[in-house]
Amino acid sequence: MSKYLVTAALPYANGPLHIGHIAGCYLPSDIFVRYLRLMNRDVKFICGSDEHGVPITLRAKKEGVTPQEVVDKYNAIMRDSFKEFGISFDIYHRTSDKVHHETASGFFKNLYDKGVFTEEVSEQYFDEAAQMFLADRYITGTCPKCGNANAYGDQCEKCGSSLSPRELINPHSQLSGQPPILKQTKHWYLPLDKMQEEWLNKWILSKEDSWKKSVFGQCKSWLDQGLQPRAVTRDLDWGVPVPVADSQGKVLYVWFDAPIGYISATKALLPNDWESYWKNPDCKLIHFIGKDNIVFHCIIFPAMLKAHGDYILPDNVPANEFLNLEGDKISTSRNWAVWLHEYLVDFKDKQDVLRYVLCATAPETKDNDFTWKDFQDRNNNELVAILGNFVNRTLVLTGKYFENKVPARGELHEADKVCLEAIATIPQQVKESIEKYRFREALASMMDLARAGNKYLADTEPWKLAKTDMSRVQTILNISLEITVALASLCEPFLPFTAEKIRTMMNINARDWSEAFTGNLLSEGHSLGQAALLFDKIEDDAINAQIDKLNATKAAKAAEESATAEATALKPLKDVTTYDDFVKMDLRVGTILTAEKVAKADKLLKLTIDTGIDQRTVVSGIAMHFSPEEIIGKQVTLLANLAPRKIKGIESNGMILMAEDADGKLVFVQPSRTTTPGSTIA
Ligand code: 2FM
Ligand code: ZN
Repeated sequence: MSKYLVTAALPYANGPLHIGHIAGCYLPSDIFVRYLRLMNRDVKFICGSDEHGVPITLRAKKEGVTPQEVVDKYNAIMRDSFKEFGISFDIYHRTSDKVHHETASGFFKNLYDKGVFTEEVSEQYFDEAAQMFLADRYITGTCPKCGNANAYGDQCEKCGSSLSPRELINPHSQLSGQPPILKQTKHWYLPLDKMQEEWLNKWILSKEDSWKKSVFGQCKSWLDQGLQPRAVTRDLDWGVPVPVADSQGKVLYVWFDAPIGYISATKALLPNDWESYWKNPDCKLIHFIGKDNIVFHCIIFPAMLKAHGDYILPDNVPANEFLNLEGDKISTSRNWAVWLHEYLVDFKDKQDVLRYVLCATAPETKDNDFTWKDFQDRNNNELVAILGNFVNRTLVLTGKYFENKVPARGELHEADKVCLEAIATIPQQVKESIEKYRFREALASMMDLARAGNKYLADTEPWKLAKTDMSRVQTILNISLEITVALASLCEPFLPFTAEKIRTMMNINARDWSEAFTGNLLSEGHSLGQAALLFDKIEDDAINAQIDKLNATKAAKAAEESATAEATALKPLKDVTTYDDFVKMDLRVGTILTAEKVAKADKLLKLTIDTGIDQRTVVSGIAMHFSPEEIIGKQVTLLANLAPRKIKGIESNGMILMAEDADGKLVFVQPSRTTTPGSTIA
């Protein structure tokens, strides 16, 4: 029988997890793996933190700590949140681990030795002050498309355009603030163009029927555009060092090393048995990811695996679309998110409520929206009113009429038969949907069984029959308890905490899904445990508190943006002037000969300026911006015919012109090269 290796995208260890991550990849993979385990299949569930790459080094710089400290912090937060939320990885590894460094390094060396890579020398931006090549994210400048002055070298976050650093206008380094220079550097490339012709086209086309339409469509469009060789190394000091000579200061590109993390995590989990998964043609490799990772998992990683030759290729990549929040794109930088670790505090012991809502609204075929109102409605109207209500009524009535023991089943009526039929058929539908990665559909089927149970109780009204026909009540509750047993098992992949609670209440063990679901699992007289509510109503207060939190985030962001806009706003143009007025001003080039501070005046410098015609004293309010020593010898523009005036007792004869930016920083208005003092400006 096939083995399964199920991977969930390794999240970057540079921030906590939010509901978008969970809905996109971790919840569906967990449901799938829990299902496979229930079916008794041989499966390993692999994940870990992606701890390399530029975002980590940027965050470290921002927080003033080392990259290792950043990844240690977020790895711990994510690991704890996953565990508490019931994401049942067999291993949660990390790419800064030694096993991973050795595995990724060995993988690169294997391809290098086989001559798979091409080598190319290209010009890249280099920060001379920091003595470092600059990753795209380390370069900012003006977006050529929309004029945003803070666009990154890979993307403008204002207009969403993808950019390359060379397109930025007025680029400068995030490290030193200086304009970078172009410098030659060598890198290794995966020749995807060649691989496309050789086998990738054919391989992707063979997936048309089995992969999700959106995934296949994205791959197809990459292929149609024609693949280009991809650099798999970077100039950076954080990552897996490139294991070949002459590669000082170079590391593997994070997207080369991260997917190898799936292999190293399996090695760490099963040091002696990992090959029976990765090198076994009977093992199905399934990557759960969000749609932004499609090209890496469907094209680049398979290309790496194939080039290596020892490994299986992915069987399926059931990528999800994106989840939005209250109508807006989830964004870590804008803090527009529901953070998992905060949810787990605010809604203690309500993991299954979020699991339910995120599965019921999962962005399986298109982007979807999470709203707190919908969260409340689904809890109150579905979990409480349907599943919780049915299980509770069944157990309370059994307690009341039969001392918490399973009553005997008598002659079957039509309504009973309908329920027994549902117990047998609905699990089949759930299984089929899960096998097709349709988890929303599977969850809805599971809830249909609870709905059928509720309808059964409402139609048969055992609480009324109790006065007249106790043997009929026995049968109804016997069957209701059988439905409850089926629900305990069926809800396990989606709502594992609830499944456990129902099992305790029913005093039963978990059961294998590979055995048929029947309505004959409970023996007459079996003693039940204590009934307790599975879910409780979520009140408006709790929801309003969450909405208020988001509104506060939005307000803080808007205030920040308007403060930035104000700070960067340029002064409006003055009223029109005339040429005649302009030519009245005698503007001259002058050279500063001496400069000294003016006693008891922090802002003033007393300057002697050579105007070519004379040497005169000018008092200027620039002392907060320049020291006297640094400006001696500089050429300036002087308004030379300004009427003399006394400043702090010193006669000032003219005014030097300065340019002031929106932040109030001053620079001299100077000729572009040194010229004769006294030269006129017009
Ligand atoms: O998008 C991300 O968060 C990446 N860290 C996913 C990496 S998946 C894999 F390749 F490891
Ligand atoms: Zn732009």
